[in-house]
Amino acid sequence: MNKGIYDPIPAMELKEISERYDELEAEGLSAIRRGEVAAVLLAGGMGTRLGFDAPKGTFNIGQNRPLYIFECLINNLKEVTDKAGVSVPLYIMTSDKNDEATRSFFDEHDYFGYPRSDIKFFKQAMAEAVDFEGNVLYEAPGKPATSPNGNGGWFHSLKEVGYDKDMRQRGVKWINIFAVDNVLQRICDPVFIGATVLSGKVSGSKVVSKAAPDERVGLLILEDGHPSIVEYYELPTEIAEEKDEDGRLKYRYGVILNYLFEINELERIVDTELPLHKVEKKIPYINESGELIHPEKPNGYKFELLILDMVRLMKDNLAFEVEREREFAPVKNLHGTDSVDSARELLVKNGVEI
Ligand code: UTP
Repeated sequence: MNKGIYDPIPAMELKEISERYDELEAEGLSAIRRGEVAAVLLAGGMGTRLGFDAPKGTFNIGQNRPLYIFECLINNLKEVTDKAGVSVPLYIMTSDKNDEATRSFFDEHDYFGYPRSDIKFFKQAMAEAVDFEGNVLYEAPGKPATSPNGNGGWFHSLKEVGYDKDMRQRGVKWINIFAVDNVLQRICDPVFIGATVLSGKVSGSKVVSKAAPDERVGLLILEDGHPSIVEYYELPTEIAEEKDEDGRLKYRYGVILNYLFEINELERIVDTELPLHKVEKKIPYINESGELIHPEKPNGYKFELLILDMVRLMKDNLAFEVEREREFAPVKNLHGTDSVDSARELLVKNGVEI
């Protein structure tokens, strides 16, 4: 939990990025061509808000043709690898709950044209869930309900299966990590990579200017002078609403779950304990008659480690601004804000046939 003194974080803003675009892109493409970049897709979540039983990445966001979320992501990555002329290794984190379904989906769809040998899967750890009174929930008689332990344990889980060594053997220095649900996600974006490398920092975060003070995104700030992310529900309203002299939100940089981390820095922090976040979720459970209930509203807590807490542990971090209309279309719900509907609209706006 954050407790220090907050200040706004200076970012590399859109104007500077556009002025230095060619220089930054060239630097990033060189790193990719040297084999120094890997991608990690976080696909272990349960996506309970979407209310779709299968892994979220297998959701068909197409309207006139099938277009799966995983396919959108692979297409976005391919744009970069085609430009660079080399493939990038992609590691996909799943969980006990969706590993098999994810692997077979990729297999059935021929990895959407991505080189099979460059895709590897690994499973994250699980954690038990409790009801609001703290009682353990059961998913079957004698079997406590478990759920994935959040997206913060990914490097641990990746190391457990030896993929850190796999990366080292390939000469990987940078890991671009991203969420499954943003269909406009720019993966291994050479401009972002170039900017982070040239900044001399050990990590970078893609950020968008918040649409409104109460938008539900984590906020990148300085906490006691150090880059850190505050969850939207932990941010006091008066700070969220504060304006600077140009009338813009003073604390405006929301994170979109797209980070670049130097692998040595990840090794340095991997054993540092991250805080456990208590998150209200819908947790399937068996009732006294032994029936499996799928609750309509949150009925308990899951305990999650969050990747956003890793940013505070990094020696430093570059805030890199991106245009939300071009890079941020998260699919959290079926309708409304951050939904299938809003993501479809944004895909069309960006020229993607759906
Ligand atoms: P979310 O915070 O949206 O969580 O995940 P979620 O559990 O998938 O969805 P809801 O809240 O139940 O609707 C952000 C990203 O982190 C991944 C998700 O797959 C998504 O890419 N994630 C989340 C994991 O990989 N593991 C987890 O345990 C949780």
